[in-house]
Amino acid sequence: MTALTLSTSAAPGLRADAIVIGVAKGSASRSGDLVVAPGAEAVDKAYDGKLADVLETLGASGAEGELTKLPAPSGFKAPLVLAAGLGTAPVKGGEWDAEALRRAAGTAARALTGCKKAGFALPLDATGAVAAIAEGALLGAYSFDTYKETGKNAKAKADKAPLAEAVLLGAKPRDNAHKAALARAVAVCEELNRARDLINMPPNDLTPAAFAAVAQGAAKEHGLKIQVLDEKALIKGGYGGIMGVGQGATATPRLVKLSYTHPKADKHLALVGKGITYDSGGISLKPAGHNETMKCDMSGAAAVFAAVVAAARLGLKVNVTGWLALAENMPSGSAVRPGDVLRMYSGKTVEVLNTDAEGRLVMADALWAASQEKPDALVDVATLTGAMVLALGSRTFGVMANDDAFRTALYEAAEEVGEPAWPMPMPEHLRKGMDSSVADIANMGERMGGGLVAGLFLREFVGEGITWAHLDIAGPAFNEGGPFGYTPKGGTGSAVRTLVRLAELTAEGLTA
Ligand code: BES
Ligand code: MN
Ligand code: ZN
Repeated sequence: MTALTLSTSAAPGLRADAIVIGVAKGSASRSGDLVVAPGAEAVDKAYDGKLADVLETLGASGAEGELTKLPAPSGFKAPLVLAAGLGTAPVKGGEWDAEALRRAAGTAARALTGCKKAGFALPLDATGAVAAIAEGALLGAYSFDTYKETGKNAKAKADKAPLAEAVLLGAKPRDNAHKAALARAVAVCEELNRARDLINMPPNDLTPAAFAAVAQGAAKEHGLKIQVLDEKALIKGGYGGIMGVGQGATATPRLVKLSYTHPKADKHLALVGKGITYDSGGISLKPAGHNETMKCDMSGAAAVFAAVVAAARLGLKVNVTGWLALAENMPSGSAVRPGDVLRMYSGKTVEVLNTDAEGRLVMADALWAASQEKPDALVDVATLTGAMVLALGSRTFGVMANDDAFRTALYEAAEEVGEPAWPMPMPEHLRKGMDSSVADIANMGERMGGGLVAGLFLREFVGEGITWAHLDIAGPAFNEGGPFGYTPKGGTGSAVRTLVRLAELTAEGLTA
């Protein structure tokens, strides 16, 4: 990953490939002119205080996502200045929006592939600005090129390597708050980028067993407790949901329990992730056009995995248990059929009406397993329904919960870290659509409100009295469009930062 450093040095003296600055649209009080963001004073001065005019001449508008290149003024050790759009400037004296800084740093970092070093001369004063710029740079510089191996791909891989070093100019390397912000950003972003790698890995390589092995490696590295239930153990333990979904595949399922404990913790947070390493739909096979990206169906498990490891690396004063429900959903002679009844880990029976509604089946077993430990709060993360994508689009995840305050806490945590999220209801009347004529419940209900129906199904497998929330990340987990801000094409690492923030808030006693 990109190396990050804090530096007090000013832009002119930095030997680098580029200096990144910020440019914004003036807010009403500044009469609509272009504003050069604080941090770039030395650059502005070298342009005789006319940097805003120069940028305007070059066509800059300050819009988010915009990049304007200009030659560095004479006397600068770097050859290039890169002005990244920050959207609308805050009113005079106001704070620069953390998410705007994060995105601008990300956009710049993406444009700097193939570069060794860049200085970031952006506004560092606002609370969280150091963290935001660091995160934007680390997440924006991400690329997945493991499988680009031969010919022109091999050359491009070498020429277009991620930015090697990002220097935050004007920071305070000795200031404890700045140092801590940097350390946190590095830990969270390293794990988030690892989650992206797992999501992007092709499903022939990332089988449930392979994912479990990666978790085992991380557990060893960070001193976490880990327990892996393989096929035999799952059958013996009565995990009918996970086994039912996985029984058609040659690559057998796993349930991974990863535990981070802090000796002084007085709260326990349990996280459950959907880990379908490939979702073909099973016997209810998805049509062509709907399965090419279904390697992303383990994004919830990847997010949970990353969050537990990040909590450990940050030494948070909270116990965090991650449950990864790993299976491959394939059609075959041994696959679960529409019409089969599964006996779940909780003891409930489920009539499988559609084998493509597999996520809720593996999640049901993991939620019940997690519930047995009576955590103070339980959060599950899943690429659960296409309906949620229809409802909220491809950048926003839905938040459901059995507790209004907890749903709000998650929504606010997401907002705080810059992850678009929205609260969704759990209308009771949708429950009866899942009544089954043969079993306790069916795995499908009304088509309308499908995301809410799935949430109601999961609720049946949450232990009595446990505060629970469900994040449906089917939209934002995998970016099928072009990259934007600090979000790459492919696996995004959606929900990781929200979960880490929730763990922090829980450690501080600020949530359930
Ligand atoms: N993994 C899919 C949901 C999904 C859709 C994730 C698009 C990412 C992008 C899930 O297993 C699924 O197939 N859900 C079905 C449920 C239906 C059969 C009740 C769906 O949403 O169509
Ligand atoms: Mn499915
Ligand atoms: Zn699925």
